Order: sequence, then structure tokens, then C-alpha cells
Amino acid sequence: MATSNVRPASMERITTPELAQKFIDEQISELRAQIGDKKVLLALSGGVDSSVVAALLIKAVGQQLVSVHVNHGLLRKGEPEQVVKVFRDELNANLVYVDATDRFLDKLAGISDPEQKRKIIGAEFIRVFEEEARKQEGISFLAQGTIYPDIVESGPVKSHHNVGGLPEDLQFELVEPIKLLFKDEVRVVGKQLGLPDNMVFRQPFPGPGLGVRCTGAITRDRLEALRESDAILREEFAKNGLEGKVWQYFTIVPDYKSTGVRDNKRSWDWPVIIRAVNTRDAMTATIEEIPYSLLHHITQRIITEVPGVNRVLYDLTPKPTGTIEWE
Ligand code: XMP
Repeated sequence: MATSNVRPASMERITTPELAQKFIDEQISELRAQIGDKKVLLALSGGVDSSVVAALLIKAVGQQLVSVHVNHGLLRKGEPEQVVKVFRDELNANLVYVDATDRFLDKLAGISDPEQKRKIIGAEFIRVFEEEARKQEGISFLAQGTIYPDIVESGPVKSHHNVGGLPEDLQFELVEPIKLLFKDEVRVVGKQLGLPDNMVFRQPFPGPGLGVRCTGAITRDRLEALRESDAILREEFAKNGLEGKVWQYFTIVPDYKSTGVRDNKRSWDWPVIIRAVNTRDAMTATIEEIPYSLLHHITQRIITEVPGVNRVLYDLTPKPTGTIEWE
């Protein structure tokens, strides 16, 4: 196990399946040496970093890894199901799936301040994870999907991650097998480990999830409109060759309504805002030029398939002045 937090200059960039396999083989023997016959705990979000760490540990120590997937109710459509399918059903992982949707949404009810929403989501996440950790006996290690930029950069993404940590009696020795890797290397390793492409090459997704895209105080009906419109957008981007080409794309459902008309009757419903941006480092971002015909098609689908929505808008604002997320 690499103990240093500094990537040696001699370390070869992992760009090919062969180099990824070499890394995997080395990690398996190092993880086995570090962990022995002890148990390891991992918070498995289903994002590429924690998924790669889980897949490595499953290969190295199998059932000694206890993965906990907390569904905070703010995940995208199909995400929790995919984590269960890939890790429990296909990789036979020792997976604890916690549906904490009600807990999170109850705590968030009526809270409209973005930073307070983030704090509640972060703190509640730790609490749920801590409860699950306490139910497990004989845990000696905590695995984390730390990657190299987490160590060397303090960019805009990571400043949002400061949600606090576990209490003192749950301070396990850390296992961080990918801490010297860059994101593109993690993806090559993930692919070589056989993880599905839509897990390995997925767009960045914030920790507070859909919570920062359901602006203001989150309600279940608006969250559902957000989840469904996001699923339509992702499906259409995938079908039209934009998946993997556009850095980040999603929908937002703000907490206000406008007048519309449907079936010859006035409606009073939400708008859905589409955002699709390209960036290198998330510090600045430009707008993807989506073909108008595709925008029309997506609009048509959203207004016919998503209850409670009567308008669709496309956000043309670069960063600056707009941040990538709306909150
Ligand atoms: P902004 O909105 O600041 O976002 O332009 C830059 C990048 O950071 C992501 N982001 C977050 N990631 N927790 C995260 O893990 C957060 O609270 C958070 N807020 C923004 C955002 O999706 C974009 O990729």
C-alpha cells in the first residue's frame, strides 16, 4: 500500500488496459498484505472513485469488504438500483443498502438556504453511515475513494466536501488504493475491472445530488419532476452521441411556477431548465451548442411525460457569471 501522498515522478501514467491490469495486480497483493483477515468498511456512492475502490477490494479480500450504499433520496433515476445490481448481484459483494430517503427529505423539508441544505445532507449522511458502521462487528479499516487531485488541489469541487467526519470511536485505519491516481487513470482501471461504461465514464455528480438542482425548499413532487426530466435528458444525450462529449448536463426545477395552457385549460406549473456545459477544471465553463432539433425533441418529451411541468428553458450562461449548479 502506497503510504506516501506524493506521486513519484517515475510513476507511469495508466493509459492502457495492460498498465491498468498491472496496477490492479499490485494493488490486490498490497491490499491483502495491509488488510490480512480483517474487515473493511466503505461508503459506496456508485460514483467512479468509490466503485473502483469497491471492485478492487472485492477482488482482494472478497466478503471482508462491507460496502454501505446510502440512498439519500437525491440520486438520479436508476442509480441505487444499478449499485445493487452491479455490486450485490454481479460481483457478489457484501453490500448494505440503506434507503434513507424519508429521513433526508423530512430533515430538508422547508429548508431553502443552499448552504444549510448542503450541511443537512452532509451531516445526515455521516449519521446514517455511522449507524450502519456501529451495526458491523470487527471493522478495522475504512476504505476511501480519495484520488490524487483530492490531495493536491483545493478546487471548487472539494471545498464542498467538508461535511465533517466520523466520531473518534469510529476512526479506522484508512485504505486508499487509488489515492495516487488521476481521474482518467481511475477510469482506465475501472474499465479493466469490468465495471459498466455508464459507471466508469459518468459525468461528475455533486455529493448533495439532486438536492442542489431542486432549488429552494425541496418537495417530493418537484424532486420527482427533476428526476424524470434529468432521466429524459440523459437518455436523449446518450442516443444522440452527446454522452461523454459534454462534460456535465442536467436539469433544474426551480421553486416557482408560471402560467401555461393544457387541454384548453390554464395551468400553473413548474419550468424545467436544461444546463449543458463544457469545462476542463470546473473553474470556468462554456455552453454546449445543442442542435435546435434535439432541444425541441427533449422539450416535447419533458412537457408531455413529466407531470407538473409546462415550460422548458435552456440556460445559455457561461461560468462566470453563472456557476455550473444553480445552488
Ligand atoms: P459550481 O456550481 O460551483 O460547480 O460551478 C463546480 C463543480 O462542482 C460540482 N459541485 C459539487 N460537488 N458537492 C460536490 O461534490 C457539492 O456540494 C457541489 N457543488 C457543486 C458541480 O457539479 C460542478 O461539477
